[in-house]
Amino acid sequence: MWNLRWLLSLFIFSLSSAAAQGSGTKTSPWLTLRGNPPLVVARGGFSGLFPDSSVTAYTFALITGLPDTILWCDVQLTRDSVGICLPYLNIDNGTTISSVYDKRNNTYLVNGVPMSGWFPVDFSLDELDNVSLAQGILSRSPVFDGTLKMLTVEDVVGQVKPPGLWLNIQHDAFYSQHNMSMRNYVISTSRKVNINYISSPEVNFLKSIVTRFKARKTKLVFRFLGQDETEPSTNQTYSSLLTNLTFIKTFASGILVPKSYIWPVDKDLYLQPSTSLVLDAHKQGLEIFASDFMNDVPFAYNYSYDPVSEYLSFVDNGKFTVDGVLSDNPITPSLAFDCLSHLGKKQSRQAKPLIITSEGASGDYPGCTDLAYRKAVSDGADIIDCPVQITSDGTPICLGSINLLDRTTVAQAGFNNLTSNIPELDKGHGIYTFSLTWSQIQSLSPAMYNVYKNYTLLRNPKVKNDGKFMTLSDFLDFASNSTSISGVLINIKNAPYLAANQGLSVVDAVMDVLNKSTYINKKTKKILIQSSDGGVLKLFKAKSNRHELVYEVNENIGDALNSTISEISEFANSVVIGKESVFPRSEGFLTGQTDVVTKLQAFKLPVYVQLMNNEFISQPWDFFSDPYVEINSYVMGANADGVITDYPATAARYKSNPCLGLPPDQTPPYMEPASAGKLLGLGLITPQMMPPAEAPNPILTAADVDAAPIPLPTKKQPTSVGNSTTPSAQPPTATAKILLSSLATVVVIVLMI
Ligand SMILES: *[C@@H]1O[C@H](CO)[C@@H](O)[C@H](O)[C@H]1NC(C)=O
Ligand SMILES: *[C@@H]1O[C@H](CO)[C@@H](O)[C@H](O)[C@H]1NC(C)=O
Ligand SMILES: *[C@@H]1O[C@H](CO)[C@@H](O)[C@H](O)[C@H]1NC(C)=O
Ligand SMILES: *[C@@H]1O[C@H](CO)[C@@H](O)[C@H](O)[C@H]1NC(C)=O
Ligand SMILES: *[C@@H]1O[C@H](CO)[C@@H](O)[C@H](O)[C@H]1NC(C)=O
Ligand SMILES: *[C@@H]1O[C@H](CO)[C@@H](O)[C@H](O)[C@H]1NC(C)=O
Ligand SMILES: *[C@@H]1O[C@H](CO)[C@@H](O)[C@H](O)[C@H]1NC(C)=O
Ligand SMILES: *[C@@H]1O[C@H](CO)[C@@H](O)[C@H](O)[C@H]1NC(C)=O
Ligand SMILES: *[C@@H]1O[C@H](CO)[C@@H](O)[C@H](O)[C@H]1NC(C)=O
Ligand SMILES: *[C@@H]1O[C@H](CO)[C@@H](O)[C@H](O)[C@H]1NC(C)=O
Ligand SMILES: *[C@@H]1O[C@H](CO)[C@@H](O)[C@H](O)[C@H]1NC(C)=O
Ligand SMILES: *[C@@H]1O[C@H](CO)[C@@H](O)[C@H](O)[C@H]1NC(C)=O
Repeated sequence: MWNLRWLLSLFIFSLSSAAAQGSGTKTSPWLTLRGNPPLVVARGGFSGLFPDSSVTAYTFALITGLPDTILWCDVQLTRDSVGICLPYLNIDNGTTISSVYDKRNNTYLVNGVPMSGWFPVDFSLDELDNVSLAQGILSRSPVFDGTLKMLTVEDVVGQVKPPGLWLNIQHDAFYSQHNMSMRNYVISTSRKVNINYISSPEVNFLKSIVTRFKARKTKLVFRFLGQDETEPSTNQTYSSLLTNLTFIKTFASGILVPKSYIWPVDKDLYLQPSTSLVLDAHKQGLEIFASDFMNDVPFAYNYSYDPVSEYLSFVDNGKFTVDGVLSDNPITPSLAFDCLSHLGKKQSRQAKPLIITSEGASGDYPGCTDLAYRKAVSDGADIIDCPVQITSDGTPICLGSINLLDRTTVAQAGFNNLTSNIPELDKGHGIYTFSLTWSQIQSLSPAMYNVYKNYTLLRNPKVKNDGKFMTLSDFLDFASNSTSISGVLINIKNAPYLAANQGLSVVDAVMDVLNKSTYINKKTKKILIQSSDGGVLKLFKAKSNRHELVYEVNENIGDALNSTISEISEFANSVVIGKESVFPRSEGFLTGQTDVVTKLQAFKLPVYVQLMNNEFISQPWDFFSDPYVEINSYVMGANADGVITDYPATAARYKSNPCLGLPPDQTPPYMEPASAGKLLGLGLITPQMMPPAEAPNPILTAADVDAAPIPLPTKKQPTSVGNSTTPSAQPPTATAKILLSSLATVVVIVLMI
């Protein structure tokens, strides 16, 4: 399927790019040397997923990327001078050689420094026949190890037929020491196959071949390594060579630099202003390519873990465009360049998906603060959310957790006497919102909730305690002023517990604030009320039909009974489900796709899926560590009506994507939803490596749907409240008011029954 579409899009692309070239380059939006679109160079193929330089990695790069994706091969020479593609000189990194020839390691000088390992010069091609490729980067999945063979350069060309080939010669000096000639190798190979680019970090190597590659057909590119590293033939550092681009121009038509040469990053991983290198290179008539793009490593916080954002800063910044990028995840620059660049003002916004925030833009600022909400609105969220908590004085506020320890600096603020242990709410200890007054909570600072702290993937640490908390009333005032949003979502959790144990009616408190707010009169703005307690939604339903009632299924499900959905549809207008209820997974791979979305929609219930995050660790491999592929798979592949996200900017950019909504036969491959189970079904995984088949998620039945009425607010004396005495700070008037309006609730419940 993919192959067919790809061929078709290849055809369409060649037509349209021919047309674009015909019309001249003056109007090109690209600030590359010649105005062409930037190139995608796939380093070892799709090495972000498959073993580097394997036939699968190379094939996958082409079927998921731009039709003119260039395949990069790091050439190593075997003892019999055959060029093979392997990323490192120590071929133990990237192959199973140490287990096949455990004693044949060696130590050699490489650029004057001793290096130990397994070297290609010690093996003939025949000997390497029973060595397989393996993932060299330990954070990537090893399931494809051991089944794929090494390829010669000719194999790559013969088996994959790349639209463009880039050979990188990293270690000519090393091979010369061993009396082997890379020069002879590339010259003789260029007679047999089309080589589009040859790069090397060694001046002498490029100088030695420059006269042989004068023809336009093969471009020579000088590769810069770390600024302080020494170039072996001139004995100058790469940073000093960088000041002498006229010299480089004498033997190369382009340069390849680590991305930090263009956008430097400070020690705290924040971007500094860009250098003038791209403009300088272009002034010299040199093309410039940037390397080190991978989706699955931390990159500058300024990009909010959105890899497309990073690519765009290199090609669509109004000042310069690099001529190409070297990437381990070539689908992402393909999507970035072809679909997400130059969106500008005239961007078309598709109707779907509805973008609902989770605690505002909580990927960028502490959740539910004024800063997180402001960013969410400017990022293009449709619906901003307030997870409601109640303070001890009965004020509904917005906070992502009922436990202040999760979202505030309360642990350092001297309220430890209010610590309690409430198993209904939390596994460990908590300091709960209902134990502090609103003014006490305001005296705390927000604390960034780092979902992936275990993986040292922090969120914007510079602002980790910035922003102000908001009451529900502040939130609605802010929402009233935000013209671009289409609504608010008020998320009500723990209502039964708060009523039965703390004497607090969160439903009444919310209704009260809503009724007093001017927001309720903004008829064009939606009010979504979300809860996993059907009883809460029933109370709102009884009150008015001003609200969209959103039922949250708070467990992973594999299916749902019609009778259960029918019951839900009696008190809800839409449903929130978790990502795994759509695409179940095992060990980081998708195992299939459920019918849950279709079944819910059959009952006219729109489905919103939570929770979309940008951090690559949150995505199964099938989405290629690319948050756009993930969103696209839920929207185009599963027909979800909305997404709930910590990163509304990413979802909004996805939604403005002109490649969305094209007829299927014109949809480019990088806009195809992932087909769940495909990776596991490629036949590349040995049975031992196969992720265990997990028990399917349960079927949603009536027993799982809690639609029980919310109990009367009653104040229990401190049974479960840990070691502290229960806070008794509630002003009597507030309590009375809450009790009074709770009585109204009781009446409603009674009427409903
Ligand atoms: C090969 O590896 C072994 C074990 O790490 C080491 O002791 C030995 O010195 C290595 N041989 C060479 C020639 O580097
Ligand atoms: C393959 O591996 C075995 C050891 O596992 C070795 O004896 C054999 O010579 C290797 N080479 C070839 C070409 O089979
Ligand atoms: C292989 O090389 C990469 C890049 O230098 C490095 O990150 C990785 O740790 C190496 N893997 C092994 C197994 O040495
Ligand atoms: C390379 O050739 C030179 C001269 O023939 C010889 O002295 C040297 O030992 C050779 N080096 C290797 C690694 O074979
Ligand atoms: C390279 O430069 C360093 C420091 O300037 C010097 O010590 C070294 O001898 C030089 N090496 C060569 C091969 O010229
Ligand atoms: C540039 O490099 C060449 C060759 O090494 C050298 O002759 C020339 O002086 C250098 N120019 C500058 C400005 O450093
Ligand atoms: C990156 O973010 C930091 C912190 O917000 C800011 O100071 C810096 O200017 C940003 N860098 C760029 C290039 O915008
Ligand atoms: C707990 O500590 C806070 C701050 O020190 C104090 O204001 C409050 O009265 C204490 N509460 C109880 C119940 O001891
Ligand atoms: C209550 O328990 C917490 C956690 O065990 C402890 O840190 C705190 O000091 C205790 N407070 C009192 C007043 O004993
Ligand atoms: C993070 O690590 C801690 C301690 O190692 C562990 O208890 C916790 O479950 C981990 N959390 C996640 C989300 O993996
Ligand atoms: C809303 O806008 C009004 C008028 O511009 C302004 O007075 C008010 O402070 C704004 N409120 C918020 C919460 O931004
Ligand atoms: C469930 O409902 C849908 C839509 O009303 C219907 O097409 C389907 O046949 C029903 N399935 C069962 C098992 O009743």
